[in-house]
Amino acid sequence: MEDFTFDGTKRLSVNYVKGILQPTVTCDIWDEIWNFQAKPDDLLISTYPKAGTTWTQEIVELIQNEGDVEKSKRAPTHQRFPFLEWKIPSLGSGLEQAQAMPSPRILKTHLPFHLLPPSFLEKNCKIIYVARNPKDNMVSYYHFQRMNKALPDPGTWEEYFETFLAGKVCWGSWHEHVKGWWEAKDKHRILYLFYEDMKKNPKHEVQKLTEFIEKKLDDKVLDKIVHYTSFDVMKQNSMANYSSIPAEIMDHSISPFMRKGAVGDWKKHFTVAQNERFDEDYKKKMADTRLTFHFQF
Ligand code: A3P
Repeated sequence: MEDFTFDGTKRLSVNYVKGILQPTVTCDIWDEIWNFQAKPDDLLISTYPKAGTTWTQEIVELIQNEGDVEKSKRAPTHQRFPFLEWKIPSLGSGLEQAQAMPSPRILKTHLPFHLLPPSFLEKNCKIIYVARNPKDNMVSYYHFQRMNKALPDPGTWEEYFETFLAGKVCWGSWHEHVKGWWEAKDKHRILYLFYEDMKKNPKHEVQKLTEFIEKKLDDKVLDKIVHYTSFDVMKQNSMANYSSIPAEIMDHSISPFMRKGAVGDWKKHFTVAQNERFDEDYKKKMADTRLTFHFQF
């Protein structure tokens, strides 16, 4: 086990598990993660990093709590939703948190479908998957890696662009991730959502989630949930904006966790040449799926 203390200068090291890059601390406990015992009433939120996990967590919790905003402010995001494969030397592990938490639990993972601990499928757990268009996803991940010392230094934007396209980032290739979960969605209890739809018509997507969770909420509560989970309100919510993580780990002065929350921000980062290169690569990697994305409104 790596002996590591965050002091704001060092970053966690990374390694490969089954071909997928992960923090070494995660690799070290992989057998325990793989053997995680899900419970039938666990609700799992799965995403590629930076696809709208925190937003979805907040919506789902408010649906479960029938719009009780105070209840959802009882603790910061990382304590309310155990992050299955995560372990921060000074903050503890998702596995320990999940084991200590009473049911019904809302859990989080970024694992690709083929690395999902089998008990989630054996117990027929409900799973919500959220996907985001890869251009905005890449930009968001780049800024997140700049501010988050628990992940590798992203290097320059030009370097990161290539690293991301090569899938050499933690949790692996975006393309494989979204396709793997897309193929799985009709065989298991998976609700597949898109960040762009949530942005365009949040109430509609909140309704979809409410039905999937089998809750009945009146219109006023739905509106309240949409309001409290809007970007501007969540940005000010210290229990949902990751401001409670020590600055040695997440430095919001480099780039805030709640950064832009927009669709199409990639246009401010991609050069014309990068965009052409991206599109060409995308065409090849997505040729074998009917899954499509909106890159702008
Ligand atoms: P940006 O970096 O593009 O702003 P995750 O929770 O999976 O780490 O995703 C983080 C991304 O979701 C960030 O994207 C963040 O700003 C955005 N986000 C968080 N809450 C949001 C909300 N309520 N509405 C829209 N986007 C949100």
